[in-house]
Amino acid sequence: MRNMSKITNNIKTIPMLDLKAQHGPLNDEINTALREIIDSSRFILGPNVSSFEKEVAAYHNVAGAVGLGSGTDALYLSLRALDIKEGDEVITTPFTFFATAEAIAYVGATPVFVDIDRETLNIDPSKIEGKITSKTRAIIVVHLFGQPADMDEIMAIANKHGLKVVEDSAQAFGAKYKGRPIGSIGDAGCFSFYPSKNLGASAKTVHCCSLHFAACRRCSMSGRKTGPVSCLPPVYIHDPREGRSGKGPS
Ligand SMILES: Cc1ncc(COP(=O)(O)O)c(C=O)c1O
Repeated sequence: MRNMSKITNNIKTIPMLDLKAQHGPLNDEINTALREIIDSSRFILGPNVSSFEKEVAAYHNVAGAVGLGSGTDALYLSLRALDIKEGDEVITTPFTFFATAEAIAYVGATPVFVDIDRETLNIDPSKIEGKITSKTRAIIVVHLFGQPADMDEIMAIANKHGLKVVEDSAQAFGAKYKGRPIGSIGDAGCFSFYPSKNLGASAKTVHCCSLHFAACRRCSMSGRKTGPVSCLPPVYIHDPREGRSGKGPS
């Protein structure tokens, strides 16, 4: 018993997340960047978001990235960009954060859950085909705890059945699947930079592969269609059926 209390007295609590310790060495850099943003008054979008979008796109070797307000927006707007809507079914995993299924419900579609693989804890590809119906339009895979889902198997099933694939990469920025960055393999990749994520920040982003980049950008700007229209000065036309505001913070 005496030994036991010696042990418990020596136990040091290690916090699950210590942002102060992470920020310590970067404090000057962070403070300078924040001061610059405040002085410029460019709180939303602006040059910081543009350069971040370019860096993220280059890192993932995709045509473009769109800076948004949250990972949840990234999922929702990707589904909008891929034209997933009421009456559609989207296959996904039940073992994820609430936002994955929430985004499916947001667009009016129905989440259809497929059980996970015992080893990887990610969606079990061998169980996907059994859940495909005439209403299935897409699969949202989640790369949980930084561990990539089995993308070869999943892409093969999606191609065979004409389904879109969205990669919920909120927990796995920088993870690679057979040498390719996750988030760059399906039709759209979605990231979260919520401060407790493996790459935390104040801004959050979705990034989309080449084919759907323009659609994602348009969706994130409340369906904005730019370009000259019949009247002057130039006006923006928004189509709420095509998206909502998801503009990324600086
Ligand atoms: C797997 C997964 N998807 C989506 C999200 C949503 O990201 P956000 O909190 O930035 O909206 C999270 C966040 O916890 C997540 O873990």
